[in-house]
Amino acid sequence: MKIEVLTLFPDMFSAVMSESMMWKARERGLLDFQVHNIRDYAENKQRKVDDSPYGGGGGMILKADVLARAIEAVKPDDDAPVILLSPQGRVLTHRVAAELSQQPHLILVCGHYEGVDERARQVAISDEISIGDYVLTGGELAALVLIDAVVRLIPGVLGAEGAQHRDSHADGLLEGPHYTRPPEFRGLGVPAVLTSGHHAEVDRWRRRQALKRTWERRPDLLETAPLSEEDRAYLARLRGEAEA
Ligand code: ADE
Repeated sequence: MKIEVLTLFPDMFSAVMSESMMWKARERGLLDFQVHNIRDYAENKQRKVDDSPYGGGGGMILKADVLARAIEAVKPDDDAPVILLSPQGRVLTHRVAAELSQQPHLILVCGHYEGVDERARQVAISDEISIGDYVLTGGELAALVLIDAVVRLIPGVLGAEGAQHRDSHADGLLEGPHYTRPPEFRGLGVPAVLTSGHHAEVDRWRRRQALKRTWERRPDLLETAPLSEEDRAYLARLRGEAEA
């Protein structure tokens, strides 16, 4: 997969993209990552990339000509999505990350200041994504969040036995608790089933813990998660116990 980022702050990407799994993905040849500085496409003498908004009001607006020129320069003739990170976009979820992880090429555009000239959106942007209902000072951190969520889903990035299928949200539920050695910590033990060696029992226990945690913390997710008859019976039991 190739990911190209257009930003006014290229240095914001160097540390994150040179550590841990993002670096491994690049080193293994699974991710080709490139950053372009939008300022390099400002043709005016002062290399000006922004201007004050028509109609007045505060803040600065990223200029349409500069941004369109930058996008058109990096976008070859494939139909790679050009995604603007902005609080007005569709919200990033596991489903969106999974959809984007199927793409061979993504172009991410980081807005800054008050926003981007609407005409740049119209002529050069194909998708708009938000990482949540809050406002950041720019799209860079949002782009990094998106890149991390997408790249870890590329086969091979997390290693052969990557457990992405068990991630929170992968099956519409939150994950249950995890344990590792030692068997006792400050008087707290480990659920016996996990050391029983019964794989089917362990799977059943994990499924129930995921259902329980989702019901306790994010009951809204249960409305859309695919649930079996057994799942529904277990949830009914939990609800019954809570009412008793
Ligand atoms: N830029 C500013 N706020 C943002 C958000 N919530 N998501 C994506 N990009 C942004």
